[in-house]
Amino acid sequence: MSGHAIISGGSSGIGLAIARELASSGWRLSLLARDRDRLAASADLLAADGAMAVRVHPVDVADQPALAAAVQEAVAALGPPSLLIAAAGMVVPGHFAELEDAAFTRTMAVNYLGSLHLVRAALPALRRVPGSRIVLLSSGAGLIGLYGYTAYAPTKFAVRGLAEALRSELAPEGIGVSVVFPPDTDTPQLHAERRLRPLATSRIAAGARVQPADAVARAILRGVRRNRFVIAPGWEMAALAWLHSFVGPLLHRFWFDRIIRGCRRQPPAGDVSGITCQPAQDDRIS
Ligand SMILES: NC(=O)c1ccc[n+]([C@@H]2O[C@H](COP(=O)([O-])OP(=O)(O)OC[C@H]3O[C@@H](n4cnc5c(N)ncnc54)[C@H](OP(=O)(O)O)[C@@H]3O)[C@@H](O)[C@H]2O)c1
Repeated sequence: MSGHAIISGGSSGIGLAIARELASSGWRLSLLARDRDRLAASADLLAADGAMAVRVHPVDVADQPALAAAVQEAVAALGPPSLLIAAAGMVVPGHFAELEDAAFTRTMAVNYLGSLHLVRAALPALRRVPGSRIVLLSSGAGLIGLYGYTAYAPTKFAVRGLAEALRSELAPEGIGVSVVFPPDTDTPQLHAERRLRPLATSRIAAGARVQPADAVARAILRGVRRNRFVIAPGWEMAALAWLHSFVGPLLHRFWFDRIIRGCRRQPPAGDVSGITCQPAQDDRIS
């Protein structure tokens, strides 16, 4: 498996780890992200890893015309892609009532619309490569809504919905679609979001195992090679991906709600974020 891969969010975390895996197999790579210095540093790393060619395209995926132009440039430079990976993403954890309106609109613009417009811009070129594949990064928060993720979870539900609908539309053309539910992965995003998580969110997530980005990237590419629609690295995410409709309500009722109520009874002495726990929604209504 080799060819040209276009990767949004390819300068950091999971996107960069995927790019490094592909580089060592001799792929041609186009990276899309905003920060030029980080893109340049990533390109150097990938060249050292053995990439056949690397191009970087500084762009904000929320800027649709600029994104379309970047994809066109990538195709003109390195040819039509056989792999398109939408990994650019952001998260603003916090209590619903305390978040700025912009947290909701910006997160949807980057995570959902940024993925949508990337696919729409690249689709004509993907059609030129038999067996090409689109990989969309969702999240466990795209399977079950989590306390403290009202700005993020809906964007990842939307990505999952897009992937499901797109898979059935593009399958007759031979274009594959995968949706990825990464576990907590050791990346700059995870480190940043942990500092902002409300206490209840941190307690709910406390048992989750954090995986290295390179292991997650390898699991994603294994799923791609096997033409998997759902790619859920690790047993926790695999179980959630297959059983979420059944398990989600049980987790909320018998585990998360108890943590959240306990969090309210014990004021946040250990809350390093300084954000107080709010009553659970059910408690406010009663
Ligand atoms: N890490 C986890 O535990 C985890 C778990 C579940 C799902 N995910 C999802 O996996 C994906 C990758 O996350 P990560 O943890 O690897 O994050 P990361 O290390 O923070 O990397 C994010 C990448 O996206 C780029 N990016 C962010 N906003 C952008 C924008 N508006 N336009 C263009 N590029 C943008 C960043 O570069 P610039 O900042 O330079 O633009 C960077 O290259 C995300 O969609 C995330 O939601 C992550």
